[in-house]
Amino acid sequence: MNCRRRLLGRHTALVKLCLWLVVGYGFVWLFVLHHELPSAHWSTPPIDELGRPTFRYVKRYEKNLPQLRALPSKGTDRPRYLFFAGAQSGSGWNNVLQEQLLNNHLAHLSQRAYVFPHYVPEDDPRFPEMLANGTRSLIKIPINALVSGPTGGGPLSYDGRDSLARRAVPEEYWHTVCPPAEVVVVNLSEAMHEMELDGASDGQEIMASWADKLLKISAPCVSIEGGAPFDYMLTGSSRVLSIWPSYSHSPILKYFAWSPIVTAALFWNFHLLSQSPPPGFLVPFPGNPHKFESFPALHTSEQTIPGLLGIHVRRGDYESHCVFLAEVGATYNAWSLLGTPGISNWSSTLPDYVWPALPDYLDVPPGQSLKAAKIDHCWPSPAAIVARAHKVREGTARRQALRRIYISTNGDPAWVRDLTALLTVDGWEVSSSLDMVLTLEGRAVSQAVDMGVLTSAESFIGVGFSSLTSNVVQLRLAGGRHPDTIHFW
Ligand SMILES: *[C@@H]1O[C@H](CO)[C@@H](O)[C@H](O)[C@H]1NC(C)=O
Ligand SMILES: *[C@@H]1O[C@H](CO)[C@@H](O)[C@H](O)[C@H]1NC(C)=O
Ligand SMILES: *[C@@H]1O[C@H](CO)[C@@H](O)[C@H](O)[C@H]1NC(C)=O
Repeated sequence: MNCRRRLLGRHTALVKLCLWLVVGYGFVWLFVLHHELPSAHWSTPPIDELGRPTFRYVKRYEKNLPQLRALPSKGTDRPRYLFFAGAQSGSGWNNVLQEQLLNNHLAHLSQRAYVFPHYVPEDDPRFPEMLANGTRSLIKIPINALVSGPTGGGPLSYDGRDSLARRAVPEEYWHTVCPPAEVVVVNLSEAMHEMELDGASDGQEIMASWADKLLKISAPCVSIEGGAPFDYMLTGSSRVLSIWPSYSHSPILKYFAWSPIVTAALFWNFHLLSQSPPPGFLVPFPGNPHKFESFPALHTSEQTIPGLLGIHVRRGDYESHCVFLAEVGATYNAWSLLGTPGISNWSSTLPDYVWPALPDYLDVPPGQSLKAAKIDHCWPSPAAIVARAHKVREGTARRQALRRIYISTNGDPAWVRDLTALLTVDGWEVSSSLDMVLTLEGRAVSQAVDMGVLTSAESFIGVGFSSLTSNVVQLRLAGGRHPDTIHFW
């Protein structure tokens, strides 16, 4: 249901129904929680010519970050910045996020403030791109619509007492404080050559060499151009894993948080996730509910939602993509490799490191070919999904019993309905991405909303080959979720 569009329309009855629903929920939670609640206004954001959200409040929030206002913007007193001119911005959100977190970690190690770009999804059927006058206009989603925390310029500490000079800044701001004449450009291929790194280098060696090089540059404005230090060739291979021991303790991951838009979506849809009232960390602040900041950011270190099993079931293009992945010999993506047996032998630099013991990996059952096993791990049948969820529920003796499943999926409604029916027969309460009632802004960042559910769930089953799953894995681990709450099909 789309309350916003209908509110804008002329259907008075539906307007009343929508208002009634919004106000109705408000009263329920007000009664239960004694908190002031957002009005319907929160769900009617300004829109542009093409009917897309403008993210006006989010943009205003980014313009008002304290590090943009309180620090010198000229001369040698300026904070040290690191801009990644060659970072991807328009591919899948999870490839972008994976790279941004590593870039941000490098900025942190080199004692520089990370410069964050917009996320610009291209050819996303949800966002029309053609203006009436025939000009193409891509939607620019401010990063803070998706994530808060260090990668969106948030604090690198719990108490906010970290140095403002190290907090990330938006790309627009970088262009004003670092005019081209003052930027030291580091050419990626030249730097790699100089550091004796290439496409076969170990991840930690790449990270440490870059940090060392960037630390030694005294100029405040540094831009890495001509490519990305942590490209998909690295994140798509086991070479990335050796970064984990230091990266997993980075404030970038530790204080990672989903945006208030994600928090609000979980709050308003909490009845789909649990029978209990929403926990305090999802509840809006008292006061003006019209502001973007009305809801807290959702930290991945908050408590889990008891009894909830979040499952990621990628459908659609994955039917052929899984066959492709099996044929080209793909392994699990990045952090989903952490459960692989023998992993401690992969990095000779860390003989004593105790890796997180994820219980699952890309195993090949007896009698099955590697290729067939990969397809089964990647594209589980409904029967396999039910069996796996059942097994995970049986294995969670020392925590509260799992009883509800949230299916994060791009599957078509009929397929999701059939899967829901099968899971219900096995005793689960079931909801899915398709049940979520989202604002226009919430729909634009619905992948982050789903990931907010998956990182908050008590237990998780994902698709090892997917970058969405891999990001959920790293955020769950960094947030302190136990490795044995992380599973793969
Ligand atoms: C089309 O409209 C947009 C927005 O109003 C404007 O920015 C752009 O310059 C226009 N393009 C042309 C070719 O007139
Ligand atoms: C980086 O250096 C290489 C080799 O010197 C050159 O071919 C390339 O154009 C440079 N790239 C950028 C973005 O300056
Ligand atoms: C890891 O290396 C040790 C010593 O080289 C060896 O004994 C052990 O079998 C290896 N483990 C795996 C799982 O490969």
